[in-house]
Amino acid sequence: MICMCWSLLTNSYCSKQFTGLTSMDISVSSLPVQVLPPVNFTLTVSALAQVLLHWEPNPAQEQNNSTIRYDVKILSPVPEEYDTGRTHSVRTAALHDGFSARVRTLLLQEDLEVCSDWLEANLPPLPGAAGTSVTNLSCVTRVTIPGNVSLCCTWLPGQGAPEDTKYFLFYRYEAHTEECPTYTKDKWNRNIECRFSRTQIKPGEIDNLIVIHINGSSQRAAIKPFQQLFNQNAIEKVNIPRNITISLQQNDLLAMWEKPISPFHEECFEYEFYLVNLKSGNKQILRIPSNSFRVRVDVSSRYSIRIRANHNHICRATGFWSDWSEIIYVGQNKLENSTAWMLTLLCVSTSCTFLLVAIICKINHVWSKLFPPIPTPSNKFRDPFPIDYERARTCTSSTETEVSSLAEGFSCSVLDDSVF
Ligand SMILES: *[C@@H]1O[C@H](CO)[C@@H](O)[C@H](O)[C@H]1NC(C)=O
Ligand SMILES: *[C@@H]1O[C@H](CO)[C@@H](O)[C@H](O)[C@H]1NC(C)=O
Ligand SMILES: *[C@@H]1O[C@H](CO)[C@@H](O)[C@H](O)[C@H]1NC(C)=O
Repeated sequence: MICMCWSLLTNSYCSKQFTGLTSMDISVSSLPVQVLPPVNFTLTVSALAQVLLHWEPNPAQEQNNSTIRYDVKILSPVPEEYDTGRTHSVRTAALHDGFSARVRTLLLQEDLEVCSDWLEANLPPLPGAAGTSVTNLSCVTRVTIPGNVSLCCTWLPGQGAPEDTKYFLFYRYEAHTEECPTYTKDKWNRNIECRFSRTQIKPGEIDNLIVIHINGSSQRAAIKPFQQLFNQNAIEKVNIPRNITISLQQNDLLAMWEKPISPFHEECFEYEFYLVNLKSGNKQILRIPSNSFRVRVDVSSRYSIRIRANHNHICRATGFWSDWSEIIYVGQNKLENSTAWMLTLLCVSTSCTFLLVAIICKINHVWSKLFPPIPTPSNKFRDPFPIDYERARTCTSSTETEVSSLAEGFSCSVLDDSVF
């Protein structure tokens, strides 16, 4: 409710902004009774990071057929304004730097609202030396098996925290408060990380708050506690999508998968699809709103695929992206026509060279039969062989070993024996 107030004598007169009333409409005859502020306004810490605001109606307040409501204004740590017909209300807020609020009486009479003065109350900051509070607190939840949520928080010790500081972490979810069972320590033996493998956090809730409270102790300084509120959906690390199937149909790549383990419905998730063409090296990340997908691909290429999930903002606050799924490969690299042609050519020419070597060897043999051998020249006739061997080595790596082993086997004497 939006009020326009102005002060007249001891009371403020309010009108709803859209009733069309202005100060000119108020005649002295319609002035209501005096409106008095509530009394005994108290703030009580009722749980971790929770305040109960309570006040009493002013015993001297006359009502005369009018309705009484209360205007509440939270000043810090997070400003907020609302009105209520009750005399108490509960607020969740980080209280380490204190809390302050105001309340006033609203008297509703016909089209008019008249408000009293404000009554204010404060909670002091939680005690402790400056700079001893933890900093950089971050928390992550995971739905492990349906029905169980784990929680992990990390933080940095305050700049002013002595080396002997011992930090303690508590979480509160609804009425449940629990201390951390498992800490990880830094080199000074100070706790800097906490893990709850099971919590009372309900996995299917939307926008519920998780309260984190970290206090501490030290021989040398009073450690100032620190509190932070987290929206449970905003810190959830989503699970990996399941049962991914990939297939190729003509020129299309078809992908299908199931939503991650979660109490939320399929429509509450979105996905990222990471597609790498292993031939060209092209990488693409595509945002997919559903759990199947078709994309045109180059069928002569091999692809690698990974998928990850997150909540979409339609259902709830987006959390942290899941890890990427295992890599899935699809398709075969087929050589480009020109490359294949060149390779074929190279191999054919290599074969021809061998044939030539064989023929030379044969001639050499015949020659040696026609003209009886002179002790040394045969070495000369073998000279071309090493050259051919060198040539053969220019074949691509896949054929190289094959060719060179062939070359080694093709000694002339072997050929001679087989031919003749
Ligand atoms: C306000 O508090 C005082 C003192 O605690 C008490 O005597 C008085 O009755 C309270 N007033 C109301 C209206 O409750
Ligand atoms: C801690 O938080 C501060 C401010 O938010 C930031 O500047 C700093 O880089 C953070 N430190 C680390 C180690 O993350
Ligand atoms: C830390 O906070 C918890 C919960 O409020 C409390 O029980 C405990 O005594 C506190 N410890 C210290 C050292 O302040």
